[in-house]
Order: sequence, then C-alpha cells, then structure tokens
Amino acid sequence: ENAERAKLIEAHELTAKLYHYMLNNSKQGVEAKRYLRERGLSDKLIDHFMIGYATDEWDRLADFLAKRGFDLALMEKGGLLSAKTDGSGYVDRFRNRIMFPIWDKDGKTTAFAGRIIGEGQPKYLNSPETMLFTKSKIVYNLHHARTAIRKSKQAVIFEGYMDVIKSWSAGVKNGIATMGTALTKEHCAIIRRQAEEAIICYDGDDAGQAAALKSIPMLEAAGLRVTVAVLPKGKDPDEYIGEYGPDEFLREIVDQAVSITKFKLIYSRKNHILLKEEGKKNYLLEAVDIVAELSSPIEREVYLKELSREFDISLESLKQDCHRKVQELQ
Ligand code: UTP
Ligand code: MN
Ligand code: MN
Ligand code: MN
Ligand code: MN
Repeated sequence: ENAERAKLIEAHELTAKLYHYMLNNSKQGVEAKRYLRERGLSDKLIDHFMIGYATDEWDRLADFLAKRGFDLALMEKGGLLSAKTDGSGYVDRFRNRIMFPIWDKDGKTTAFAGRIIGEGQPKYLNSPETMLFTKSKIVYNLHHARTAIRKSKQAVIFEGYMDVIKSWSAGVKNGIATMGTALTKEHCAIIRRQAEEAIICYDGDDAGQAAALKSIPMLEAAGLRVTVAVLPKGKDPDEYIGEYGPDEFLREIVDQAVSITKFKLIYSRKNHILLKEEGKKNYLLEAVDIVAELSSPIEREVYLKELSREFDISLESLKQDCHRKVQELQ
C-alpha cells in the first residue's frame, strides 16, 4: 500500500511535468495556450499553478508511463489511465484538456482536474477518488495559501480553480477552493486549523449564493468567524477580475465582505420586489426573522434601526416582531 502510494505520487508528479511541458512546448499545446491567454493567464501564473495540457491522443501518457516502467494497472487505479473496455490495455483518462494539478497538503500532486477548451460537457473532468485523493478532504491550493492564511488568519473560499488562480494574481494569496463538491465538515476542520475567519467568495449566481447559505453554518460549527464577499449577479470572481481588474476586485469585493446577517439580508432582498407593498412587507418580515437569529440585543438593534430608517417603519414595531421571533427561537 505505501509502496503503491509512493509510485502513484511519483507518476502524478511526472505527469504534471509532462502536461506542463506539452502546454508550453508542443505544437498541439498552442491552442490551449491561446485559450489560457484569452482568459488572462500570464506565463508566470501558468507556471506557478503548473497548468498543463493533455494532448488529443489516446496513449500519450500511457506510453510515457510504460516507458518509465510504471505498472499501468496501478496507474489506472490511481486515475491517470482508463482500462479499455475489451480489457486489452489502457488509454489516457484525460485527452484534449487543460490540466490543473491538485496537490495534497504537502504540495505533492495527487490528482488532476481537466478543463475542456471552450464549451462542452463535462466542463471539468476530475480524477476519481483514489488512495491518494479524497474530494471531501482536499482543499485546492491549500499548500500555496497556507503561509498567507496563517499570517492574516483569514482564508478566502472560492468555488472554482480559475477563481483561486485569478484571485491569486490579483493579490489574494490566501484563496482556496473545494473541488466541485459542496463544502464538507472535513474541509471546515482543515480550514479551521489554519484560519480564524473564512471569507466566502462564491459565484454571483443563485447556485453560488445558495451554496454560501449552506456553507455558513458548517464553517461556524467548525469555529470560524464567517463573512461573505458578494459578487454582482451573474459574475464569478474570475469573470469579475477579467472585466473590472484586480484592484477593483480587492477594493469592491474582497474588502467589502459583509457579516452573515448582512449577507442574508442582501440575499433575501433580491427575492422580493420592494417597489410593491406586498414585496416590501414580505421582505421586512423575513428581514426581522434574520435579525432575530442574532444573540446580541445590541447587534439586533443596529440592524433593526437600519431597516427602520430605510423603510420608514417605527423601530418599536420592528422590535416587537423581532422579539416575538427571538422567543420562538429559544
Ligand atoms: P463553475 O461552473 O462555476 O466553473 O464551477 P468555473 O470555476 O467558473 O469554471 P470556468 O471559469 O468556466 O473555467 C465551479 C467549480 O465546480 C467544479 C470545478 O471545481 C469548478 O471550478 N466543477 C464544475 C466540476 O468539477 N465539474 C464541472 O463539470 C463543472
Ligand atoms: Mn514551467
Ligand atoms: Mn458556479
Ligand atoms: Mn464559476
Ligand atoms: Mn469562471
């Protein structure tokens, strides 16, 4: 088992180098390189994240690994190759994809995510679960980000690889992501070991905002303070940086991360049409429920005052409704 692990790690490290080399030096890699350029990735960034390219061939990697004496059955078990259906051998698992190495906490390559160039399904093909790689326990980019996380005591959690990478180039050195799966308890515990605060920075679509709502209690349960950096509708961090630039991303998004209560209020607000009496009333009722979740009466009053001012409702009525809800919650 240990010998197999060591062999597989060695193979993953070599494979990452092969993919990276093919992106930078092969004719087949030119289109992939152009795609990355168009998405705003510099050579320096491509090197730092060891981004590569798996060529559109059936056995480029299989040959490469066989020549170096690796046991191909083990390579299949490790997710680098796929067994042919007729049992006659192995083919490359990743073909014609941009390759992102996934590292374990020590920075060893233990898996890959392969992005299709342009449109298509699946957008990302990930390594399967193997003896090296458990999605629910791997935090993308943690080994790069660890120093910055420890220093700032904050970790910024993104949805995707490209968000981490583009944000890194914008100066967010403490950015991490889960691997296309929802945040797990294990992820939260791992993050808590390095950080005191988690800044959620998910995509500005419904899926992203709903995922944020789910992640909040889990991160809190792990003992993290949580704030949320809210993206405008329909933009993810990578797209925001592409459109508005790194400085604006830091100034307007990351530095403006809001409290959980504020985030829930913003989210609820988006679901109501405030110009209509009915919408306004429903929003206010929901807002009061959100505020009632706060345990500190002072904190509750701060938010209620804001609502009172904005909607021209007496603080007294808001307090009464809120108080009723607080008692329900107890
Ligand atoms: P998104 O759909 O938001 O992709 O999924 P993205 O990160 O913005 O990707 P780009 O910018 O188009 O390249 C967020 C994350 O969900 C996982 C990946 O980890 C992705 O980064 N995912 C998504 C998959 O694992 N497989 C998929 O097919 C799609
Ligand atoms: Mn390089
Ligand atoms: Mn998304
Ligand atoms: Mn996205
Ligand atoms: Mn994106």
